[in-house]
Amino acid sequence: MTEPFKIAIAGLGTVGQGVVDIIQSNAALIKARTGRDIQIVAVSSANKNKARSVDVSVYEWVDSAADLAGRKDIDCVVELIGGEHGVAHDLVAHALESGQHVVTANKAMIARHGLKLAQKAEYKNVALKYEAAVAGGIPAIKTIKQGLAANNIKAVSGILNGTCNFILSEMGLSGRAFDDVLVEAQAKGYAEADPSFDIDGIDTGHKLCILSALAFGIKPDLDNVLEHTSGIREISSLDLKIADELGYKIKLLGSAHVDEQGHVAQSVEPCFVKKSAPLASVDSSFNAVFFDADFAGQVVNIGRGAGAGPTASAVVADIMDIVCGDIGTVFSVSASQLKDARYMDSSRDEAKYYIHLSVEDRPGVMANISSALSAEGLSIDELIQRHYHVDGPVSVVITTHKTTRYALTSVLNKLQALDCIAEIVSVYRIFNI
Ligand SMILES: NC(=O)c1ccc[n+]([C@@H]2O[C@H](COP(=O)([O-])OP(=O)(O)OC[C@H]3O[C@@H](n4cnc5c(N)ncnc54)[C@H](OP(=O)(O)O)[C@@H]3O)[C@@H](O)[C@H]2O)c1
Repeated sequence: MTEPFKIAIAGLGTVGQGVVDIIQSNAALIKARTGRDIQIVAVSSANKNKARSVDVSVYEWVDSAADLAGRKDIDCVVELIGGEHGVAHDLVAHALESGQHVVTANKAMIARHGLKLAQKAEYKNVALKYEAAVAGGIPAIKTIKQGLAANNIKAVSGILNGTCNFILSEMGLSGRAFDDVLVEAQAKGYAEADPSFDIDGIDTGHKLCILSALAFGIKPDLDNVLEHTSGIREISSLDLKIADELGYKIKLLGSAHVDEQGHVAQSVEPCFVKKSAPLASVDSSFNAVFFDADFAGQVVNIGRGAGAGPTASAVVADIMDIVCGDIGTVFSVSASQLKDARYMDSSRDEAKYYIHLSVEDRPGVMANISSALSAEGLSIDELIQRHYHVDGPVSVVITTHKTTRYALTSVLNKLQALDCIAEIVSVYRIFNI
């Protein structure tokens, strides 16, 4: 008889309990598909006496998660504690060094320490899998490593944070302000008490960093992503209303692409997305990941990016892959083949933009604005003027054709200097997928 595959689970929170639930509920199906039972040997969490949604009393309780590393009776450590450094990282590092497989959902740790951990895993010929770390239940990593394995990937983008997507969708539907919707998101459990990781784009940055490394074969470089990261705090209900009028939605996108010389650009920022584009239809807490591959073409995966069921589903699928003998490389190439990224000069990166100006209501203003734009060779796609506030300033909204960030900055400086312009209210990139 085949021996069960023995795992230990560290962290019994939302995802940890979800993993226990799937393994208990779908044991027969998992065995039928892998040919082996998955046996939970031990569990560890911070508080032994905390009530759980699943029965963990049948498993050995280990007070210190660190003690799971190196145990000969545990084939695979499932790390579901979270956090970039500390207990989670030390447990994973020691488990890999001891020759145990590791499955984790920890994007912060993989984005920051993925390269070193990959070296440890590949040195010991064990697996380090982390499908759940990017877009929860959506198979984003498997899409790159398996489905698109024979392709050069030119771009990868996505709505990677359900909290932000819920807030932006709700603001767009109801016209309510950001702070108001954030409180509702917290009450519904979509946003943490301290929501900054989500709404400032850092969580999306972690996921984008991992996707870029996989898609372009580069070393994960979280600092570069975070240098080009902005969140959704500043988005006003007025910009969402104007976006709607113009046929767009606003989405927080993590996006990365590579040019023909192999230079990479990666950013996290709120973007205008055409309502007809696949990503625009992804609302509420759903996530989506878009790939542009040289032979497969454009691929979009949509699904739930968080929550116990979807995230645990990805974790258990990773465990099942290991049971079936898929050790593979940690990224899409071995750690030793990952290249240092060469980055694009961001001032030369081309995009279309939305520019919202608050201007004085007097003759000649539109002519001044148009000549400031044409002086920099920036061509206008649409230019509209609206009175959104009775007796208040007038909104002038411009959408541009493709231009460089360099030209955009020059135009914004010129506009700022015009005395008819009270304020540059907002500037967003228009994402053309
Ligand atoms: N939640 C999601 O939808 C989701 C989606 C994708 C990825 N992830 C990732 O999955 C991981 C887990 O997330 P989660 O939402 O399940 O978090 P969570 O609900 O906060 O659970 C964290 C668990 O870790 C335990 N823990 C904390 N410190 C510990 C320590 N020193 N030793 C052992 N256990 C410790 C906690 O213990 P007690 O329960 O005993 O207090 C808790 O059970 C994170 O890396 C997260 O980024 C989560």
